[in-house]
Amino acid sequence: MSQLQVPAAPPGWLPDAWLRNARLLSGLVLMAFVTLHFLNHVLLLISLEAADRGRETFLLLWRNPAGTLLLYGAVATHLALSLLALYQRRTLTMPVREWAQILLGLAIPVLIVEHVVGTRAMHALYDANDTYEFVVRSLWILSPKVGVRQAIAVVVIWAHGCLGLHFWLRYRQWYPRTASALLVLAVLVPVLALLGFASAGKEVSAMGPPQSQAIEPTLLDRALATKDRIDNSIYAGFAGLIVLVLAARIVRDRIERRNLVEVRYAGGRKVRVPRGYSVLDASRLAGIAHYAVCGGRGRCSTCRIRVLDGLSEQPEPGPIEAATLAPHRG
Ligand code: FES
Repeated sequence: MSQLQVPAAPPGWLPDAWLRNARLLSGLVLMAFVTLHFLNHVLLLISLEAADRGRETFLLLWRNPAGTLLLYGAVATHLALSLLALYQRRTLTMPVREWAQILLGLAIPVLIVEHVVGTRAMHALYDANDTYEFVVRSLWILSPKVGVRQAIAVVVIWAHGCLGLHFWLRYRQWYPRTASALLVLAVLVPVLALLGFASAGKEVSAMGPPQSQAIEPTLLDRALATKDRIDNSIYAGFAGLIVLVLAARIVRDRIERRNLVEVRYAGGRKVRVPRGYSVLDASRLAGIAHYAVCGGRGRCSTCRIRVLDGLSEQPEPGPIEAATLAPHRG
């Protein structure tokens, strides 16, 4: 228990609940895309032809103007809000599971850029016919190193998505009852997708040289040069964004440290933190054990404390805090 003397942070430019819901929704759209994409790969266990037939339906859903807007809108929203969340985190002292979720998420763009540019962008710019045979041939035969990277990407993307769903759903009453079945699905989907990829790799190897090219041969050199330029621009842009976020954190921390307040814990321990930190942030910063199942996202209330002194100086709870605390108030 602690005595709280830390006023809450001033309201941001957008309500936190709105941002949190936008991040969740964009994550759900991406998870829907990824699940269908991986299930399409599972059809490779039957044949390339079966997977290409499944791909036709998949493309009907995602390669039309509305599907494209939804997908790339979700990518941009999820990425932007994840970087914003990384900036807003007061301390980077956090449990392994939270670090895992962040690092897996940051690894995804690095792992999939070349695949996305080589398929979607090449289709849009050079009318590339990015069939399963074309993709598997380039990943399994022409660039096996990139193939290994894509296999790792399947696992990383799936783990990031499943962790996000788990963090979101684990407080639902029905979740513990279905968790085992969901875990089986969570393991089966990527395993079957990767087995499908391996099976297609063998099928393509046995086919010999391709009968036709995915890109018009006269455009190939220009297409490859364009692909390299786009890949490198995205890598540089993404690295720049990460550096920007980390630099912004350093500048903000320096400014905030000019205005420290003191949190006094039961037992006499005192921690000085910048005004605006939550008590959970203060505890983590000082290495004080503070139970927090959802990492302070307002989903569980396990980090709640009893304020012994100074409550009257505290502002009213924000919308997320109020919604979380409501069931616990008499
Ligand atoms: S840890 Fe979940 S709301 Fe505080």
